[in-house]
Amino acid sequence: MPVSHPDPDPLAWWQRDVIYQIYPRSFADANSDGVGDLRGIREHLDYLNDGTDASLGVGAIWMSPFYPSPMADFGYDVADYTDVDPVFGTLDDFDDLLEAAHERDIKVIVDWVPNHTSDQHPWFIESASSRDNPRRNWYVWRDPAPDGGPPNNWRSSFPAVGAAWTFHEQTGQYYLHSFAPQQPDLDWDNPEVEAAMHDVLRFWLNRGVNGFRIDVVYKLAKDPELRDNEPDRAHDQDWPTIHDRLRRIRRVIDEYDGRMIAGEVYLLDLQQVVEYINSGDELHLAHNFVFLRLPWDAMAFRMSVREFLELADSAAWPAWFLENHDHSRVPTRYAGPEPGSGALRGRTAAMLVCALRGTPFLYYGQELGLPDAEIPPGRIVDLDGRDPERAPMPWRRPSRVGPGAGFTTSEPWLPLVADAERLCVEAQQEDPRSTLAFVRELIHLRSREPALRSGIQRLVNAGPGLFCFERRLDQPGQRFLVALNFTSRDVPLQLEEDLASDAELTLSTDPGLERGTTDPKTLTLHPDEGLILRLP
Ligand code: GLC
Repeated sequence: MPVSHPDPDPLAWWQRDVIYQIYPRSFADANSDGVGDLRGIREHLDYLNDGTDASLGVGAIWMSPFYPSPMADFGYDVADYTDVDPVFGTLDDFDDLLEAAHERDIKVIVDWVPNHTSDQHPWFIESASSRDNPRRNWYVWRDPAPDGGPPNNWRSSFPAVGAAWTFHEQTGQYYLHSFAPQQPDLDWDNPEVEAAMHDVLRFWLNRGVNGFRIDVVYKLAKDPELRDNEPDRAHDQDWPTIHDRLRRIRRVIDEYDGRMIAGEVYLLDLQQVVEYINSGDELHLAHNFVFLRLPWDAMAFRMSVREFLELADSAAWPAWFLENHDHSRVPTRYAGPEPGSGALRGRTAAMLVCALRGTPFLYYGQELGLPDAEIPPGRIVDLDGRDPERAPMPWRRPSRVGPGAGFTTSEPWLPLVADAERLCVEAQQEDPRSTLAFVRELIHLRSREPALRSGIQRLVNAGPGLFCFERRLDQPGQRFLVALNFTSRDVPLQLEEDLASDAELTLSTDPGLERGTTDPKTLTLHPDEGLILRLP
């Protein structure tokens, strides 16, 4: 009788692999205009995954928007959903990039920005041209309040903008913008808008993209009566209509094989977040911003992971991330008490997101432990203070290739991090103790060990200051203990249960630590250290 083996990897690609976010303006500039572009990304695919252990080993890239845009919000103000902005290249460049990525088995996720267009999009230009234009109701236009002010109390998500309404002199009405005035909100209660935006999905699906990251998906449904926000009820987002709307989006995605949607669900109540993934016919993945906003505290992370798992349906798959293009980077956000604490925490944070059960998202430069860049007042370009986390990728030593650090040969659109000489890819590739060497090993460990991808997860008590969990599959050698120290002190591993006396130290954030057999009962974690032990 043939022995039947369980499928060693029952997961879909978007569950199995690390997804790496690229901010195209800042990754690599192939045409020397100071701004990154699609060709630059293509030229660096081998760095991301060349099929060997020498590369990072990510399975997918998510690219922030590269569509034609006046760049009021650096591409999140789209003027044409089905083309490429000349600063990033051409549609042919996109196709070349897609093909080259697929040759390396790297999946490609693009950003879909459905809540709003640019005010330069032809739809909005028509809509604004007169009150009886056929596209008037593609956007949200309303008469002024009786006092002449905005129609309701909704605020832009950008504090600097203030009210979410701008008065349009020519037609005497206000239009809604949940972000900048240059980003008018589409009216998703209008079926024509919904159909047009579904066609945008099909355009990129037909070209072969593997998935979408949906920008501000929770904003796609608002109170159609536009009532004021109340202290305990938001009317400008997460309206109950969102769920059927998402199901219809999902049906478009499911017209194609193996595609995926991940959504930006910036809601700070995990019950609301899981509702976007629990029913199995809405999002595949939801970005969890409760997690991103936690303090650097073992108990906080432990409780938050537990709460998520309690609320999520057993079939729902988590996604974990701690960096993206809108938030201060980990080594700066969690800078800590000592000069080196932030850098150590960067490694431990990477271990956390890559070892938890779920899909890890890493943001370009996170593998280098990049901190935020210092932006002198004269170089500020973002309206919401997000330039520091968008600094260009330092590829090579400035002392060898000039101040553009291999990102560009001209003036970069944003300053690079101060310490590019030490933090750049070139320097870290030469140093086996670097953060890059560590993250690469972490990703390859995850790829090699099925328990770290599909294994069950159990939280383990290990004393104050530590967050510990076990990942396990019923296969020989597939039992791991992950132990993370969230304090700046040495903390002994005080396991409440007798897990094993001879474990194997598989990976530490501390490159000096000797690998090999160790007794977990005698282990002490160094400040901000993370460990992965293989248990017998
Ligand atoms: C999302 C994007 C952010 C953008 C905003 C408006 O939050 O991540 O960068 O500014 O949406 O599109």
